[in-house]
Amino acid sequence: MMNDHTLRVYDSIIGLLSSEENPTPLVRLNKVVPFEHARVYAKLEWYNPFGAIKDRIADHMVRDAEERGVLVEGNRLVEATSGNTGLALAMIGNAKGYALQTTLSAAIPLEKRTVLRFFGSDVIELDDSLCPAPGAPEGAIALAADVAKTQPGFVMLNQYENEANVGAHYRTTGPEIWRQTRGKVTHLVAGLGTCGTITGTGMFLREKNPSSKLIGVYPEEGHDIPGVRSRSQLQQTKLYRPELCDDEVEVINREAFDMCLRLNREESIIAGPSSGMALVGALRAIADEPGTLVVVVFPDNVFKYASSFQRHFPHICPPDKKDEGGGPTKKEQFLGAMIENLKNRYDTIRVKDLHSQLQEPDRPVVIDIRSPDMYGEMRIAGSVNIPEEDLPNRMGELPDDRDASIVMLCGIGKFSKSAVLYLKSMGYRNVRSMKGGLNEWVRKGHPTESNSAGTV
Ligand SMILES: Cc1ncc(COP(=O)(O)O)c(C=O)c1O
Repeated sequence: MMNDHTLRVYDSIIGLLSSEENPTPLVRLNKVVPFEHARVYAKLEWYNPFGAIKDRIADHMVRDAEERGVLVEGNRLVEATSGNTGLALAMIGNAKGYALQTTLSAAIPLEKRTVLRFFGSDVIELDDSLCPAPGAPEGAIALAADVAKTQPGFVMLNQYENEANVGAHYRTTGPEIWRQTRGKVTHLVAGLGTCGTITGTGMFLREKNPSSKLIGVYPEEGHDIPGVRSRSQLQQTKLYRPELCDDEVEVINREAFDMCLRLNREESIIAGPSSGMALVGALRAIADEPGTLVVVVFPDNVFKYASSFQRHFPHICPPDKKDEGGGPTKKEQFLGAMIENLKNRYDTIRVKDLHSQLQEPDRPVVIDIRSPDMYGEMRIAGSVNIPEEDLPNRMGELPDDRDASIVMLCGIGKFSKSAVLYLKSMGYRNVRSMKGGLNEWVRKGHPTESNSAGTV
């Protein structure tokens, strides 16, 4: 049975990829557009089967490589991505039997990195800028290129240089917009990443109507809008053709995220940050004239950017509960469970046992993790003061022997338990926490000393 776009019944998910017969929707914007005459439509690219505009290029790049015989059964794909291309290639790869390795910046939202792994991709995170820099030796693009060059069976389609990226938009996005607007589109606006969207779609519309206006929108330097490139970053994609654009507009982070919020709140359109950026650029560059019909490409939706919204809208999307003084986060619950386990008799020592061991020649090393003031006021003779927060930087003062007997103590025997955890994580095997802390030692009547009164 063939794919039926009218009934929306498909042989497989691949059938749902966008085309002139199955275009992604165009939706008119009403509330956030201050125009009286010009009509502005958004092209909602998350209606692609894997959730973003990159589904188009992933499909075209794979088919093009298969047709040219550079991608064959048994090959593995490797690609540098800011997220969406990786997600699409992972799913096209799952459908066609190609495993995928993605190299990307650790600055990419956690949501995208997590879903990439969930889709089955082998994800390699690097300390690279949000948009991989081909020139940067440690960069994600350089690493992917190196894998493709040195490891047999790996193929890099390289969205930053692959003309099939442009071709995908020339064959699908352009024809869709022309047909959906009945050829009345006057302006195309798109955010600039690899620039495949603006170049491919723009070339098609220009062929249809040479006076079609193309407007490229890019973020400020140092932005954190995934998928798009600042002016300096644009120099790194081979698909950027500034001569094609009638205008290019720079948009700052704040404006992009604020418009993203307005689109969701006022238009009920679940657009992502780079869509907000593109619309701000459109409203700035285009005059409100009769007959003007603008199409702004909205590449993906909000659901992959929760962690970005926490950063940009802390008053709306507060960070984890722990920062508000509320209940323990899952992580604290997990740590709490680990510390609970420490209450077992193997990782604590009773006051009376410590007291008798301190009489022996091979007495344990006692580390008092309270503040220097508290330590100065009252301590166990011979104990060493290393405040808890200083531990990581003062490990050099501890015995080298990882089997040395060490006892951690604090005032009530609670904080010393997490200090035990820390030392265990540093390889110490014979480290325990003094039960009940110094309070219990004093309660048991054992001697203490202080800076002022000597031993009492
Ligand atoms: C969220 C998002 N916005 C915009 C773009 C830019 O599209 P293009 O690479 O076609 O310029 C991308 C590309 O990755 C993207 O993922």
